Amino acid sequence: MKQKILVAGGTGYIGSHTTVELQHAGYEVVIIDDLSNSNRDVLDGIEKITGIRPDFIELDLKDKEGTREALKAHPGIKGIILFAASKAVGESVQQPLKYYRNNIVTLLNLLDLMPEFGIEGIVFSSSCTVYGQPDELPVTENAPIKPATSPYGNTKQINEEIICDTIHAGAPFKSILLRYFNPIGAHPSAEIGELPNGVPQNLIPYLTQTAIGIRKELSVFGNDYDTPDGSCIRDYINVVDLAKAHVIAMDRMLENKSDDRVEVFNLGTGRGVTVLELINTFEKGTGVKVPHKIVGRREGDIEKVWANPEKANQVLGWTAKETLEDTLVSAWNWQKKLRERGIQ
Ligand code: UD1
Repeated sequence: MKQKILVAGGTGYIGSHTTVELQHAGYEVVIIDDLSNSNRDVLDGIEKITGIRPDFIELDLKDKEGTREALKAHPGIKGIILFAASKAVGESVQQPLKYYRNNIVTLLNLLDLMPEFGIEGIVFSSSCTVYGQPDELPVTENAPIKPATSPYGNTKQINEEIICDTIHAGAPFKSILLRYFNPIGAHPSAEIGELPNGVPQNLIPYLTQTAIGIRKELSVFGNDYDTPDGSCIRDYINVVDLAKAHVIAMDRMLENKSDDRVEVFNLGTGRGVTVLELINTFEKGTGVKVPHKIVGRREGDIEKVWANPEKANQVLGWTAKETLEDTLVSAWNWQKKLRERGIQ
């Protein structure tokens, strides 16, 4: 048995897929989640896939004493992966204090407690949003950080800085900052996937809900960008591929494979895809039509961004493997499973 890992936010979308991959790799997982944007059924899904039910503590990580008690009750945790955060860009503009409080206090509490419990490393869930609209594409980790366009994006930048400053000041742990591009899809078993609250703001859940008939049509935000078909370009990364990168990052920290105490990696495919191309690929892969119309641009959208993932490819030995088509089919299978269960 490998070591024990705390997955903060482990019942969420990326957290649940990462828990599965950690368990497959032999790690023992303890999840802390306040269930503010997920539910307990996710634990059943994880157990169905891996045969192991992770330890689960329902707790708001802003509660430092509660977190301390949880760590005391689960001695021997060696690493943390921090997913727990609020993540709706639009809501963050409306309620900035909620975002600064949730996302930053959680990190501060964990960093404070890590030395007390001998926790050796933390993997932080960051985002390509820190690059804004990059001057050069594909974007490398050395690209300048641009002023954040939302409080949500700002919390990612601030948290990266907090981790770097704390480690440079001599804190006795390491960190790996993972900058995700656009995670999509679901586990191939369709036992876990993305479960947005209310009307989805992100492209894929809106698209699959439209394809199944919950939404009338998908709005494509803009066709007058400087891209081949005028719609925005993103780098869509399969969530299971993404989850696997976290296992490699954790191995790397705990096995002291690097002398650098903080490292940063882009996690993307290296391929930019337009919104219209993505819709076509979905229709081709599933045989299901997606009613859609072109509308105006969405405020704050980046025109085009995709990763240069070479550092992760070479240093971590990690590469995104799944095709876009298979990934979109997995998202569709998950949407159909939700329908079967009468959820969405
Ligand atoms: C945003 C955030 C990112 C965050 C991610 C997950 C920014 C700049 N980006 O990514 O940091 O990690 O959400 O919450 O803050 N689209 C449509 N119709 C829709 C929905 C989306 O055409 O109904 C288009 C968008 O214009 C965009 C693409 O689909 O081009 C992807 O959008 P979305 O899934 O919302 O992700 P991002 O905005 O890229």
